[in-house]
Amino acid sequence: MFPETRLRRLRKRKIQPLVRETQVLATDLIAPLFIDETLREPSPISSMPGQFRIPPDGIAGVVRRLYDAGIRGVILFGIPKTKDSTGSSAHTKGGVIQNAVQSIRMEVPEMMIITDVCACEYTDHGHCGILTDDGMDLDNDQSLALMADIAISHAEAGADCVAPSCMLDGQVKAIREALDAQGFSETPILSYSTKFSSSLYGPFREAADSCYSCGDRTTYQMDPANAREAFRESRIDSEEGADILMVKPAGLYLDILKEIRSLGLPVAAYQVSGEYAMIKAAAMNGWIDEKKVVLESLTCIKRAGADLIITYFAEDAARWLHEK
Ligand code: PBG
Ligand code: ZN
Repeated sequence: MFPETRLRRLRKRKIQPLVRETQVLATDLIAPLFIDETLREPSPISSMPGQFRIPPDGIAGVVRRLYDAGIRGVILFGIPKTKDSTGSSAHTKGGVIQNAVQSIRMEVPEMMIITDVCACEYTDHGHCGILTDDGMDLDNDQSLALMADIAISHAEAGADCVAPSCMLDGQVKAIREALDAQGFSETPILSYSTKFSSSLYGPFREAADSCYSCGDRTTYQMDPANAREAFRESRIDSEEGADILMVKPAGLYLDILKEIRSLGLPVAAYQVSGEYAMIKAAAMNGWIDEKKVVLESLTCIKRAGADLIITYFAEDAARWLHEK
């Protein structure tokens, strides 16, 4: 007890770094990238200042720059030239992602390439898979075959890891079986295992051109109010064969992250577009210190249990961490 016990002793400037419990490393960070097949020049994303849609022939250069900044993983999203009701451009040879994977493989083979496996950027209705006959909901079981086809096409192009994100029941099992059957038993699955139906995805939908024309995603993404269901979702994905789990969004869901860590698998957290936009907007107004807030947010996400953090701040954060 006080006065013998004095916690401030360990807060002296020289001692603090020695007793710090959590360190964020550049190698913890994964950068999301948007490749737009319709572009010839990078195009700024207005709701995500500092982020761009990248044309296909620019992607390898961007990935090289990230690698040189210390980033060791990227996750790719594609914006195709053509969309249809079944998202067929998501799994064609020579599609936007398949080409991007190949060019990154050639130019920056050291970079870990993760691909987002979902159809919302490729369907004309903007939902994540195939719709039921009345057009009102995702048809779960029909969409599973589509996800398997997308994952196989990414693996064939050379993806190091596939990341199914559409919250279908059974998607990890379906993708694992398909990968194994096609000779990709060494390709890991990073499952968006606990993905909430969050209002923080708004800027992403501008970035990825995936605004849905009807309904919303609340019949497949999770209710933000539910923690026990969140745990079950990730537990079931681990049983279906996921190699890495994910909680998305990150900052408002740290309690979930902490619990899911107890499943024993590596856990990724996705600091989503809305989290990025809020920090950027306040920083651009001079209301907060961007660098300090970003590093604090990443440190707290890691402290809560994330091994990997997917963040649009990856490149800047890697530089700031290097300066420290
Ligand atoms: C698509 C997908 C989304 C995000 C990642 N993959 C959007 C959505 O589900 O509506 C969101 C990422 C972000 O907001 O940064 N399934
Ligand atoms: Zn989707």
